Amino acid sequence: MERVTEPPAPNPLLEVRDLTLRFGGVTALDGVGFAVRHGELFAVIGPNGAGKTSIFNCLNGVYRPQQGTITLDGRSLVGRAPADIAAMGVARTFQNLGLFGHLTLVENLMLGRHHLMRTGFFAGMFWWGRAKREEITHRAAVEEIIELLELEPYRRMPAGLLPYGVAKRAELGRALAMEPRLLLLDEPVAGMNLEETEDTARYLLEVRRELGLAMILVEHDMSLVMDLADRVLALDFGVAIATGEPSEIQHDPQVIEAYLGGAA
Ligand SMILES: Nc1ncnc2c1ncn2[C@@H]1O[C@H](COP(=O)(O)OP(=O)(O)OP(=O)(O)O)[C@@H](O)[C@H]1O
Ligand SMILES: [Mg+2]
Repeated sequence: MERVTEPPAPNPLLEVRDLTLRFGGVTALDGVGFAVRHGELFAVIGPNGAGKTSIFNCLNGVYRPQQGTITLDGRSLVGRAPADIAAMGVARTFQNLGLFGHLTLVENLMLGRHHLMRTGFFAGMFWWGRAKREEITHRAAVEEIIELLELEPYRRMPAGLLPYGVAKRAELGRALAMEPRLLLLDEPVAGMNLEETEDTARYLLEVRRELGLAMILVEHDMSLVMDLADRVLALDFGVAIATGEPSEIQHDPQVIEAYLGGAA
């Protein structure tokens, strides 16, 4: 059964209702509902195994939920292939890095634009004329992202050789290269030191200011979530236990209980 934790927002970018996902006997998501507004930074929190990554896997078509609806600007996403959902404007970064290690940073970002290209990246290397012009346009877009994320010094470096914090930023760049309307960030600061975490927070705010896209942030670092998010959804054992502004969530008895229960 869906638990309504908040009144619906008018014309949300993303609307998820009654989302239910099972793996055999495990219910990863149990009637989860939430909405993300245009330009909003929406966070999803919860203890390990709460179902956070499962939400992303449903949103981008990797898993098909047994029940529920997901709409992006009113168009249903359930049952579509991941590539179609990406083309509709949903991009994602991964909990573990999703870059091609042997390709340079620039090449990885160009691949992020693949679905936007009519002639294709590899065809573009062999065809002149339209393909060449198209490639120049895409290069320019990639260079803008490189500048925004201050990745210039690493442009020609194979992604596999990038320092960890830089590689995470490069993955953010790859997702942005897709020109998404909704960006899904799965633990963008996992494994980072304090300085790298603060840098990432700064880049996320910068991206948001410059590009104005909506983001869903899954993150265990509570101070980052509380600093950045407009609103937060708290999950526990696949159930949405609270939705609200960071200050409300921090003081929600069920949220406190879920975290203390997990720590005990
Ligand atoms: N492919 C799968 N097959 C079977 N069970 C799965 C699968 N994916 C997720 N689960 C189960 O679903 C539940 C939710 O997992 P999920 O990865 O969504 O949690 P999470 O909140 O992202 O956790 P973490 O904070 O550890 O990343 C867990 O019980 C997990 O074991
Ligand atoms: Mg996860």
